[in-house]
Amino acid sequence: MNIKNYLSIAVVIVLMNSCATKTNTVTKTEVSTINVDAVLIHAEKQLALQTAIAESQNKIPRTVTADGEMHWAHQNFDWTEGFFPGSQWFLYKATNNEIWKTRAEKSQALFEEHKFRKTNHDLGFVFNNSFGHGYELTGNEDFKAVMIEAAKSLSTRFNPTVGCIQSWDVDRGWQAERGWKYPVIIDNMMNLELLFKVSEFTGDPKYKEIAIAHANTTLKNHFRADNSSYHVVDYDPETGAVRFKHTAQGTAHESAWTRGQAWGLYGYALCYRYTKDPAYLDMAKKIAGYIINQKNQKNGIPYWDYNAKNIPNEPYDVSAACVTASALLELNTYTNDAYKVDVERILTSLATDEFTAEIGTNHNFILKHSVGSIPHNAEIDVPLNYADYYYLEALLRYKEQYEK
Ligand code: GLY
Repeated sequence: MNIKNYLSIAVVIVLMNSCATKTNTVTKTEVSTINVDAVLIHAEKQLALQTAIAESQNKIPRTVTADGEMHWAHQNFDWTEGFFPGSQWFLYKATNNEIWKTRAEKSQALFEEHKFRKTNHDLGFVFNNSFGHGYELTGNEDFKAVMIEAAKSLSTRFNPTVGCIQSWDVDRGWQAERGWKYPVIIDNMMNLELLFKVSEFTGDPKYKEIAIAHANTTLKNHFRADNSSYHVVDYDPETGAVRFKHTAQGTAHESAWTRGQAWGLYGYALCYRYTKDPAYLDMAKKIAGYIINQKNQKNGIPYWDYNAKNIPNEPYDVSAACVTASALLELNTYTNDAYKVDVERILTSLATDEFTAEIGTNHNFILKHSVGSIPHNAEIDVPLNYADYYYLEALLRYKEQYEK
């Protein structure tokens, strides 16, 4: 079935006669009706095929290589490894079918031991998005224990002088070649949810305090006057002073790397969820405004950097669109649905053939056309497991908010 058949879009032109001014005003309201159930059925078929292959190899799908082969997540640690079981948990939530619970448990067991790693900040991505959903959906106390251990490891990377968790170590790899001492990336906002949850689980405020300090320091140093954010802020770990404001995955230090803007948006929305601090809601709204007002995107689907030189002849980043859609849905719950039309524009675009793969193609990833990192010449115009994850999350949020 062609994915276009899943969608119906009604454009309603409302003519309003303004009696007060005695002039006619025309207000155009787009009302998009997205058939979320049908999109989810399509997604489930794709991920069922992908799961069968992944299970046969005991591996986690990450993306597709430049040669068109499946690229599995690194087995000794991969920042994306939590997204595949996370998508399986979303399908369990959507279908209530026990088979998805079994599949998710099997996938996340492949990396449980990584909860002890202290060599980068990605533990929030990895464990909140897998074991976190598992705990929420099943109440399994073992999953909670895994999250607590991961939060302990993550919090070892916090430096109170800086007021941030260190994102990357600088003693090896390409990060060692940039002159950084204590790099903090905007993506790191996504790791805070694990810390907020673990303070709730344990009653120990330490984790939440770290998350709040990190969010406040990032709010102070990562954003420009136009509410776009830098990707990397490097600090002096001895004094807390800012050393550099750089990029690693954007087109230039002063550009707005698209997925980074989405991470910031999602991050401040979730910080508001746990703290109700109006400064976080304000920041999230400002980022949303920045994103929505960008001309350099097509029907809600952005290119990989809002300042990329050759737009429209640049790769899209569908993963950023998915993260943005999911974050805007959360923001809608605090803003009287201020971003509903924007979310519907994104979801409607994602469900077209241009971005959704036919069943059995695309190595059974749901979506096409994402970007990992162009400056690293890695993962350009490919599917990514985290695009699929945030797409499913957005679809479920949309259903819960608007189709009850
Ligand atoms: N570090 C996560 C990302 O590439 O967006």
